[in-house]
Amino acid sequence: MPEPQALHIAIDGPAAGGKTTVARLVAQRLHLLYLDTGAMYRALAYLALRTQTEADNAAALRRLCEAGCIRVELDVTAPMGFRVFAGETEMNDAMLQSKEVNAVVSTIAAHAAVRDAMVAAQRAVAAHGAVVMAGRDIGTVVLPDARVKIFLTASVDARVARRRAQLASAGIDAGSHRLEDEIAERDRLDRTRAISPLAPAREAHVIDSSAMSADQVVAEIVTIVERARAV
Ligand code: DC
Repeated sequence: MPEPQALHIAIDGPAAGGKTTVARLVAQRLHLLYLDTGAMYRALAYLALRTQTEADNAAALRRLCEAGCIRVELDVTAPMGFRVFAGETEMNDAMLQSKEVNAVVSTIAAHAAVRDAMVAAQRAVAAHGAVVMAGRDIGTVVLPDARVKIFLTASVDARVARRRAQLASAGIDAGSHRLEDEIAERDRLDRTRAISPLAPAREAHVIDSSAMSADQVVAEIVTIVERARAV
């Protein structure tokens, strides 16, 4: 008999739409491992800044990826629910969410060479078994056979409020961030890039979370997963 396919749950959506919070809670509820793939692109952006690699220098960014500089470990006990390393340095929320990283990460994530390396690393993680993976292209590119695909959206206002709270919990003062402009610009870059632009997979369940609590979104996703498991 063929092995039953591992339970892969893809949660995609725009910046600050609540994906990471919800994906982590869904993983906890279902006792699954969890990976926020945005953290991998952010870790590369952090490393690029530290090594003074320009965000538009695709060849130099490719070399950083090929040298295995960005590494993840799935570990539900870690502060972020998984660990991500840039070189030898373990990243934390404050490093990944800084204004400097935000300013360059979408440009860095648009390079084909960067995406190829990240997608390969993410598929290698999924090959180990069940996982809840959050990102932009998980349902469309990374795990096109995922059992459940969710596309989580929310209004810009709701996302600005969430991003402010997320920054505050990382100890970052959002006062100097022009959050609305930042989110609108990242949406534009993510949706219009040539490779793997942000878009719902054809079979994705689209959830607009603007007026929903995280718990309500989690409950809806868990119901969708239970239904898919029963088939
Ligand atoms: O989800 P986030 O805001 O942490 O993502 C940071 C950046 O990485 C964002 O500009 C889009 C990009 N990203 C991507 O292109 N593909 C993914 N699977 C995850 C994130």
